[in-house]
Amino acid sequence: MVETKTVEFNKPVLTGEIAVPGDKSISHRAVMLGSIAKGKTTITGFLDGEDCLRTIDIFQQLGVTIERNGTNVTVESPGMHSWQSPKEELYAGNSGTTARLMLGILAGSHVTSVLTGDEYLSKRPMNRVSVPLKSMNASIEGESDSNLLPLTITGGQLTAMDYAMPIASAQVKSAILFAGLNAEGETSVSEQTVSRDHTERMLEQFGVAIQREGRTVRVQGGSVLTGTDVRVPGDISSAAFFMVAAAMTEGSSVTFKDVGLNPTRTGILDVLENMGAKIDIVEQSTGLGEPFGTVTISHDGLRATEISGDLIPRLIDELPVIALLATQATGNTVIKDAAELRVKETDRITAVTTELKKLGAQIEETEDGMIIHGPTALTGGTLASYGDHRIGMMAAIASLAASGSIEIEDPSCINISYPGFFEDLEKLAFRTNIHR
Ligand code: S3P
Repeated sequence: MVETKTVEFNKPVLTGEIAVPGDKSISHRAVMLGSIAKGKTTITGFLDGEDCLRTIDIFQQLGVTIERNGTNVTVESPGMHSWQSPKEELYAGNSGTTARLMLGILAGSHVTSVLTGDEYLSKRPMNRVSVPLKSMNASIEGESDSNLLPLTITGGQLTAMDYAMPIASAQVKSAILFAGLNAEGETSVSEQTVSRDHTERMLEQFGVAIQREGRTVRVQGGSVLTGTDVRVPGDISSAAFFMVAAAMTEGSSVTFKDVGLNPTRTGILDVLENMGAKIDIVEQSTGLGEPFGTVTISHDGLRATEISGDLIPRLIDELPVIALLATQATGNTVIKDAAELRVKETDRITAVTTELKKLGAQIEETEDGMIIHGPTALTGGTLASYGDHRIGMMAAIASLAASGSIEIEDPSCINISYPGFFEDLEKLAFRTNIHR
């Protein structure tokens, strides 16, 4: 039997203040770089969601000492040379970031390992990483020309390269930069459209002298990383669900404390502003590392917008819930240049259009995006999550605009990035009704 959760609201108003869980991308990288580095790394605000826990499991299998106490993590490593070849397969679960970044790390290590994933991850393309890594001399073998997990990685000495990225992907960029740490010579990666730069910022925090010139990043092979303290801000991609909720429901105003404000991730704030929401931002100062601050989003009418081009990588994970928001906005919202959505945890273009149509939304699927005609009154219904956390959360937020209750199938996938999501929803929304 499929597990379900029913969420129902009656004229909801969202008010109050929350601190969303730690940033998923930054949490993965903190454990990865802490394990590569020599010495002790302490991480505060770590995301204890399923994806990041898989990254911890993997490094523990490689012999790194990692202790976790809730959202506080300590990593103690003598450096990569001390890693052992694991006895069992390394299981990345549902986590594309774990799988793709680990390929870049393992390829330049001295260990041999087999990387696997769950049924969804096993269908996602790994070629985008394994092909460039192979041109650095990496040994990566597996089915479909090493495109699909499981993959066997025989670590060894890599050669540097200059790579011009054909797609905007921080996972690909990061995998190559990690491989470059163990390559002979200088590796460079050039992007056409800037993707999230957490890896670059964190390498600097760990003492690596990377060079950033325009859209090109360079790293020297043999760079030494030293353990450090990492503070993980709240994940703006998680906050986005409640930002949309506040922008969508009349009378609402929600404050987000300590949320990440890295400009490569704040596309959602630009879109909310363009659509008419009221936004207040108080940024806290940062040295090396990630900017963060307090953001308040208040409802103030809602109009359609166009989302395309350079904006896409700055809000790629937020597009499902933005599509939902557009169903409540006046006019036609066009989302394009977002074909990458088709290779996320599920095909998010098909999943979003299929599920929102079940509630009466007027939404069209295009090859690289969606067109949403609003505003439309949404009804209740039963929505599938496709095992995709962001589709599951979009379904829950849809209940705020729906006239009836929404039943979400397989809601446990939400724990991948937002444990405590339903508790936060209940805390913020007035007159909620959630049943298991
Ligand atoms: C991530 C990069 C993005 C994003 C994913 C996390 C990362 O993927 O969708 O959720 O941590 O580097 P792509 O790099 O494939 O765009």
